[in-house]
Amino acid sequence: MFKLPPLPFDQGALAPHMSSDTLATHHGKHHAGYIKKLNTALESRKDAPAALEDVVQLAVREKDGGLFNNAAQTWNHGFFWQSLSAEAQPQPTGKLGAAIDKAFGSFSSFRDEFLSRGEKHFASGWVWLVAGADGAVKIVDTHDAATPIVEAGVTPLLTCDVWEHAYYIDYKNDRAAFLKAFFDKLANWQFAAQQHEAALAGGKGGWTFPT
Ligand SMILES: [Fe+2]
Repeated sequence: MFKLPPLPFDQGALAPHMSSDTLATHHGKHHAGYIKKLNTALESRKDAPAALEDVVQLAVREKDGGLFNNAAQTWNHGFFWQSLSAEAQPQPTGKLGAAIDKAFGSFSSFRDEFLSRGEKHFASGWVWLVAGADGAVKIVDTHDAATPIVEAGVTPLLTCDVWEHAYYIDYKNDRAAFLKAFFDKLANWQFAAQQHEAALAGGKGGWTFPT
């Protein structure tokens, strides 16, 4: 049985960029709902792995779309809360800063591409900064519940949820404004740098969903 992990910040700490009302719904209703359905799906089987990451892989192997959607959405949301910071953080330096410069030319160009990918993403999904085992970074966007953790050798560093439920209360249909607030005011670059270190260590030490 998986439990809804508490937010790593006070529910009102991200306002006005992400309101308490949004988090009450997004965390307390949407994320909790995925976990409830996941647990219901797992109740009937005795071979359920203890780690959520292994449940996601099991669902992929068995081509079980229902299990995958709820397991992956449970994981993606847990990772999204870690991707948020109550205080605006300076842009990354060190190894992550260098990897971003190498991949995009500059942090400003990286920002432009991240916002563009998020704005252009059709319908529900996620925008991610991910790294390979060599530390090289790239942006990917995934549809619905799809998650980069199913790709071998890929470690996610940061994600932004672009499902409408992530922003409609605060920004209505203005996804671009939400993405700018996420990138400029909320993105947890310290967490992304820790994940980048994990990528360089072959994924060891990266964030895992609490068991
Ligand atoms: Fe969401």
